[in-house]
Amino acid sequence: MKKTAVVTGAASGIGRRSVERLLNAGWTVWALDLSHEKLAAFETPDCTGRYYYRACDVSSASEIKEVFEAVSRENQSIDALICSAGVTLVGSLMDFPEEATDKLIDVNLKGPWLTIRGAYPLLKYNSNMADPARIVIVGSVSGIRPKVGSGMYSATKAALHTLTGVLAVELAKDGITVNAVAPGTTDTPMAQQAAENAGSSGFQLSGNSPLGRIADADDIVDAIEFFLGGSAKYVNGTVLPVDGGTRAAYSRG
Ligand SMILES: NC(=O)c1ccc[n+]([C@@H]2O[C@H](COP(=O)([O-])OP(=O)(O)OC[C@H]3O[C@@H](n4cnc5c(N)ncnc54)[C@H](O)[C@@H]3O)[C@@H](O)[C@H]2O)c1
Repeated sequence: MKKTAVVTGAASGIGRRSVERLLNAGWTVWALDLSHEKLAAFETPDCTGRYYYRACDVSSASEIKEVFEAVSRENQSIDALICSAGVTLVGSLMDFPEEATDKLIDVNLKGPWLTIRGAYPLLKYNSNMADPARIVIVGSVSGIRPKVGSGMYSATKAALHTLTGVLAVELAKDGITVNAVAPGTTDTPMAQQAAENAGSSGFQLSGNSPLGRIADADDIVDAIEFFLGGSAKYVNGTVLPVDGGTRAAYSRG
């Protein structure tokens, strides 16, 4: 059966790799991100008629409304939503600017909530208990084991994990599952940017995991694919760390 997904944060990193792999697997994909140009650059002849893209700020209720009106003009239903859009801003909590706090909450917490609300009618339209529609949220290991220097980011991700659980129970009656992946340090522009901006905040990337390396986007998309697949149709309300074991035990190494 042909399936359709909406992906946020689709122009870079984990979101972008999710789009590429879904297109390769035959899905139709709606890619959302801030930059129309970046999303357009990503179109290939192979995905003609299956790749749609829209510039959209996930923290804007009006932009999300417009996007899902556009999606529903083309699709009666969608099968999956991946919420990958996110920002990280580092700084110690006593010095952290109010605007940066608002930005983190708006994009990392309000953004997925608005997006899920927008996608909800389309997700439930065709769904059923035997093969639920899927929502996969990209959280963070920082939301499980917070980091000095990224306290506010960690707090938004912890709150996002909480939303995952409550949404999973609230939407189960509609045949929709909600799960989160919680990546550890992943080789994307976001991780590089956070390290560059650390200043004197005390923030440090986690570095190599016990498995001897940091994640790449494919490691995270492997877990996202699991949540989208037939093997996960009874998995609901989980937050799956994908961090090579970094958070599992304290180590000075
Ligand atoms: N890279 C890591 O080490 C890491 C670790 C844990 C969690 N994460 C999470 O993974 C997700 C993806 O991050 P990534 O590493 O791929 O980073 P990335 O910076 O490569 O991609 C994030 C994308 O989100 C988009 N975005 C930002 N604000 C937006 C908004 N308001 N509306 C729409 N799109 C917006 C950006 O334009 C960008 O394309 C994020 O939620 C991030 O918090 C990343």
